[in-house]
Amino acid sequence: MYLITVLVLLGTGLTVNSEIHSLKYIYTAFSEPVGLPGIHEFTAMGQMDGRMIDYYDSDIQRKVHKQEWMKERLPADYWEKGTQSRQSKQQWFKVNIDILKKRMKQNDTDLHVLQWIHGCEGETRPDGTLKFVRGVDMYNYDGRDFLSFNDTDSVWVAATDVAVPTKRKWDDVQVLKEYTKGYLENECIDWLDKFMTYGEKHLKAASPPHVHMLAKKTRIETNLMLSCLATGFYPKDIILNIRRNGRILTKEDGLISSGVRPNEDDTFQRRDSVEILKSDIASFTCQVIHRASDEPIVKVWGKNLSYFSLQFGAKMQTVR
Ligand SMILES: *[C@@H]1O[C@H](CO)[C@@H](O)[C@H](O)[C@H]1NC(C)=O
Ligand SMILES: *[C@@H]1O[C@H](CO)[C@@H](O)[C@H](O)[C@H]1NC(C)=O
Repeated sequence: MYLITVLVLLGTGLTVNSEIHSLKYIYTAFSEPVGLPGIHEFTAMGQMDGRMIDYYDSDIQRKVHKQEWMKERLPADYWEKGTQSRQSKQQWFKVNIDILKKRMKQNDTDLHVLQWIHGCEGETRPDGTLKFVRGVDMYNYDGRDFLSFNDTDSVWVAATDVAVPTKRKWDDVQVLKEYTKGYLENECIDWLDKFMTYGEKHLKAASPPHVHMLAKKTRIETNLMLSCLATGFYPKDIILNIRRNGRILTKEDGLISSGVRPNEDDTFQRRDSVEILKSDIASFTCQVIHRASDEPIVKVWGKNLSYFSLQFGAKMQTVR
C-alpha cells in the first residue's frame, strides 16, 4: 500500500480583481411563542457573505457576536446599542404582526410569521475600495412577499393588495425613504467594508490543516483501523470526509469521529477512523476542506489509482 497526495484543481478562478461581497440582516418574528426547541418568537441575525456574524433572539435578549473577529474588534458600546436596537425591533414586530393579522382578518388560531431582510452588496474596486452594487429591504408575511423598497426609484413596492395601505403610508414619509436609501447605499457599505477589513486580518491569522491518513492493526487479525487526521488548523470549522470508492462513510459504516479537539498551540485537530478489512481492495480517500486552505486537501489510501483520476478529474502528485 502507498500514500499519495492528490491536488484537486477546482474550476474556480482564484485571481479575480473584483469580488462581490454582501452584508445582510434577517429578522424573523412569530405571532406567538412557537414552543419548539431552538425556535424563538423573535430572531435577528447578521450575515456577511452568507456567514453568520451576529445573533439575537427573544430568549437571550442580547445581540452577540458569531465571529471571533467581531468580538475582538467591536467595542462593548456596539453590542450595547445593538442589543437596544434589537429589543425595540422585537416590539415593533409584535405590534406590526398584530396590525397585519387584523388587516387580513386572521384570528389567533394560526401561527403567523413576519420577516424582514435588509442589506447590501458591494464590489471591490482595483484600488481596494468598495462600490455599492445593490441594496435589498423587503418584508414577507407568512412566507409571501409583502413589501419591498425600490432603491433606484426610492419607492415602496407592494407585492400584494394587502400591502398597498402600508406602501401609501410609507411613501409619504420622505425621511424614511431617504434614510433607507442612505442606509443601503452608504451606511451598509461602510459597515461591510469595515467588517471585511476586520475579518481579513483574522483570515490571515488562520492556519491550514495538515492531513495524514494512517492505518493501524486492530485486535482482529484480518482488520485495519484506517484514520484520517487533520491537525494544526485554525479556526475550528472543518469538513472532513472519508470515502470508500467515492462514497462518504458515515456512522452506519462504523465511522468514529473524535470531533474537533484543541491542540496545545491554539490550533485544532480532528481524527476520523473506520475499521476496514485488510483484504478490502477498495480505495479510501480523505477530503478536508478548511478556509485557510485555498483548495480541498485530498489524501488517498488504496490501490486502485485510475479510479481516482476519474473520480476527481484531478492532477495527482505522488509523495513517497
Ligand atoms: C380561525 O381562522 C381559521 C382559518 O381562517 C378558521 O379555520 C377557524 O375556524 C377560525 N377560528 C375561530 C375560532 O374563529
Ligand atoms: C424599480 O427598480 C427597477 C430597476 O432595478 C426599475 O426597472 C423599476 O422600474 C423600478 N420602479 C418600480 C416602481 O418598480
